[in-house]
Amino acid sequence: MSNAFTRNRPLWIAGALTVGLLVLVFVAGWLFGRGSERKHEAQREVAAVTTPVVRADSALGRTDLRQVDALRRGIPVDQEAAPQPLWHVQNMDVKRERAYPMQPPTIPHAIDGYQVDMNSNRCMLCHARANAEKFQAPPVSVTHYMDRDDQFLATISSRRYFCNQCHVVQTDAPLLVNNTFQTIDAVLAAAEAGTATAETAQGRP
Ligand code: HEC
Ligand code: HEC
Repeated sequence: MSNAFTRNRPLWIAGALTVGLLVLVFVAGWLFGRGSERKHEAQREVAAVTTPVVRADSALGRTDLRQVDALRRGIPVDQEAAPQPLWHVQNMDVKRERAYPMQPPTIPHAIDGYQVDMNSNRCMLCHARANAEKFQAPPVSVTHYMDRDDQFLATISSRRYFCNQCHVVQTDAPLLVNNTFQTIDAVLAAAEAGTATAETAQGRP
């Protein structure tokens, strides 16, 4: 053993030095990592303190109508916003009022796992004209079979293929942006009663 040691002495020393160096690097990395973790934690605490709490009755927690950045809620980009809760999809088969005649109706049922891609369109399993009777679903209206020259096609128009482009599920989420939208019925009723404001008279809700 001692023979082997004296013969390979430089090799042993080099090995020991390498191991020592590795240990040093490891310890340094660990200390450094701990330090930056603490910094992150401190930052997170600061963000938690400065981030406005979102109340369920108002997604914005504010009434500023000029606020267009509704998702960030005005929180500076260098601060982490407390995420909004996930809202619940309403799966109750209860239709909502359409705000105007050409509004795509909201979807009164859950659509989890309904695949819509190049190979299949799950929605059309029930909503195609030919299948609607079987599933007692309202068939997609005639506009969904029209091409851009208003010609009627036998199958769903490619312009209406990706249903979720226009139709969204109904959730219990509060308004993302506060607004003063009035349906045309409300505007007409106000006009008839002679109480139309300058704004509604100009057709600006
Ligand atoms: C299993 C059958 C089925 C599938 C699949 C299905 N639906 Fe429906 N859908 C219905 C039925 C039935 C109704 C009628 C209301 C109810 O019972 O929920 C309906 C209602 C609707 C309405 C409301 C129509 C109106 O006049 O208000 C829309 C919009 C809609 N579905 C869109 C979709 C979309 C988009 C998909 C695919 C992501 C889809 N549906 C998949 C069965 C289905
Ligand atoms: C480009 C937007 C758009 C796309 C894409 C689209 N829709 Fe619609 N959809 C509308 C609009 C707008 C209406 C209401 C006016 C009308 O009937 O055209 C509507 C109405 C409907 C209705 C109610 C029909 C009625 O007679 O009341 C159903 C059901 C429906 N769509 C299902 C679907 C399904 C399923 C798909 C996917 C295959 C789809 N839509 C794709 C815009 C769209």
